[in-house]
Amino acid sequence: MASAVIGWEQESPVPDGHKFNSYLEARKGRLQMDGLDLAQFFLDEAESNALGQNFPSPMEIVYLPLIRRQIAFMEQVFAEVMADMGYAGRFYYAYASKANAAEEVIRTTLGAGAHHEMSSTVDVEIARLMIDRGLLPAERLIICNGFKPAGSHYAENIARLREQHANVIPVLEDLNELSTFVESRHSFDMGIRQKSYGAHADLTEMDEANSRFGMDLKDIWKAAEYIDAAPNLSLKLYHAMVGSQIVDREAFVAWLKPAMELYARLRQRYPSLSIFDFGGGMPVAMTLDFDFDYHAFVRLLLATMQEVCNRYRVPVPDIMGEFGRYTTAEHGAHLFKIVDVKENNSDLPWYIIDGSVMSSFPDIWALSEHFVVLPLNKLDGRFRPVQIGGITCDSDDVYPPKKSASVLFLPADSDDLYVGFFSVGAYQEMLGGVRGSKHCVLPEAVELIVDRDEAGELKFEIIPGQNARDVLSNLGYRIT
Ligand SMILES: Cc1ncc(COP(=O)(O)O)c(C=O)c1O
Repeated sequence: MASAVIGWEQESPVPDGHKFNSYLEARKGRLQMDGLDLAQFFLDEAESNALGQNFPSPMEIVYLPLIRRQIAFMEQVFAEVMADMGYAGRFYYAYASKANAAEEVIRTTLGAGAHHEMSSTVDVEIARLMIDRGLLPAERLIICNGFKPAGSHYAENIARLREQHANVIPVLEDLNELSTFVESRHSFDMGIRQKSYGAHADLTEMDEANSRFGMDLKDIWKAAEYIDAAPNLSLKLYHAMVGSQIVDREAFVAWLKPAMELYARLRQRYPSLSIFDFGGGMPVAMTLDFDFDYHAFVRLLLATMQEVCNRYRVPVPDIMGEFGRYTTAEHGAHLFKIVDVKENNSDLPWYIIDGSVMSSFPDIWALSEHFVVLPLNKLDGRFRPVQIGGITCDSDDVYPPKKSASVLFLPADSDDLYVGFFSVGAYQEMLGGVRGSKHCVLPEAVELIVDRDEAGELKFEIIPGQNARDVLSNLGYRIT
């Protein structure tokens, strides 16, 4: 298999105007993120930089317009393909908040019209805050996934949320989750989640999958029957998540097909069922070699659904996706300075950053995940192959990941050199934790939230980083 393209791959300078992907471009030796010159924050005089002040590295960039762009694009793909095929259902874009639950992210997805998917009891509090701010109006669906056995805080909190919102849809993972909602006195549209993960040729294989999520066939039929029998509940949604970052569209749809068959069989018996929710899995560009035809995927998904529903003589469902990684990967970047270059008789020179790869992007060492890494300045100079080392004492604090075959070239002139890790906006911050104390007690970086107003003018919000006192007091030291 070809290795992931994670940056510039040659010694020659990057040509002016070169576009690395849809939002990163070289201009006059500097990297622009959707037109924003990133090196300016560190290198330009305060008067000539967009913020009117210089910044220390490292720095996190949160660029909200890219979230809106992702949502608008997917809405448009579904609208175009549905119109073209005469598909008789609608599309629901739900944001899977587990990918990044930061306030600015949630306010942006909701502001862009997304429905909301959640997985734990604190998520319910986030939904409440958004309802209070008018960002989660009654017509938006709130999909409650995650484990919620009867008696759990989460289950009870969901039941109470229904008092504030008309469209709360609990999705049952297990039969033991049902009683909370039957006994709640509130009317609920309900979802049921099938047990499925990865490639399953048929429903029997799905039943045998080694997965803790969702219900097997027997329990799905029981859940549907119990929901139907409860006077306050109505079966509305069928949930069939099969994986994450699935880049093979034929495989993606093939994995979903047994679920579509089951949806259709359930729909024959329960006419209230109207949404097929394929969950997460929608891939997004995290490296520069990404190639996925979203239109072709949606066309195949809907055509397969039409074929299945025709065969079972039931109407096609509305389609929902819960887009986590797809929504947020590209909006997040993390910028570092190269503070040292060590040869150390190693195969490649070590470019040492003023932060940690390991604690900033846990998927790199845990899953050998790849992200885009590019210099912010000196793109018009010569490059050389390097490896990046974090400033912790950990041998896993490196990039590319240890088992990777990908090459990484950075400018040979390392004086005052800054680099960025891009497409890191999904899951990394939530897995590494926000605030708190990190590996080798490195403080958290300053965060710059960037948005554009309707005229395209930049707006900034600065979230200060941690200082030594924050880290120490978090660890229990009393400082006078
Ligand atoms: C139930 C559910 N929905 C949606 C998602 C989001 O998946 P992705 O990030 O692939 O879009 C997840 C991820 O774990 C999930 O568990």
